[in-house]
Amino acid sequence: MSFTRRLIVGTGPVPCNVMLVGEAGGWDEHQQGRPFVGKAGMVLSTYAKAAGISRGKVYIDNLYPWWVGVGNPDPPEEQIEEGGRLLRATLRRVKPKFVGALGRTPARWFLGDSFEQKRDHGLPKRVEMEGLSFIVVPTYHPAAGFYDASAAALCQKDIHALAETVRGERAVWEERELPESRLVPHPTPRSPDVLPQEGDAIDTEGSILLPQMM
Ligand code: URA
Repeated sequence: MSFTRRLIVGTGPVPCNVMLVGEAGGWDEHQQGRPFVGKAGMVLSTYAKAAGISRGKVYIDNLYPWWVGVGNPDPPEEQIEEGGRLLRATLRRVKPKFVGALGRTPARWFLGDSFEQKRDHGLPKRVEMEGLSFIVVPTYHPAAGFYDASAAALCQKDIHALAETVRGERAVWEERELPESRLVPHPTPRSPDVLPQEGDAIDTEGSILLPQMM
């Protein structure tokens, strides 16, 4: 099926402490031009809310900010390269301190080919890129649970790991410790501003992913 490519534009505050990066948009995102507005987005909303992450305070985007096509195949290498160039520019604009890499493809893009999802998911790691220094938490993709219930549980756990990292409650895997592949406690800056604050309005009706559109 041929279709006209339509950019799926990242949403959220700029600059932003926390950024979530998915793989590529699906059909719903292609239709609406916004990331994570379909079924995977509903799952992500639920997990983020349970972990205490407020969607209105995170920037959300995709590595390949277009729909790949019917069946949502993984984006091929040239599409990852194209999306990666845009993502680098977005990172410079958004200046995140924490990035949730949602799924294997964005996790590999941030952490390199040595990333192994089964072994490394949920482990926060510091990354230097584009003159920035931020912590990446790789997660199972929110849609992985559509096919495998255990992946849903792991994704939910990983989103919790991200929230705990933002709150400074998790050890960070530092580059120099990679050869030994071990975790040591590392004080991360406390960043309570992504979490709902006393007095914050709570959206009880709409999607927490897109409260600004309600
Ligand atoms: N899956 C993604 O990786 N991104 C979206 O925007 C939607 C589904």
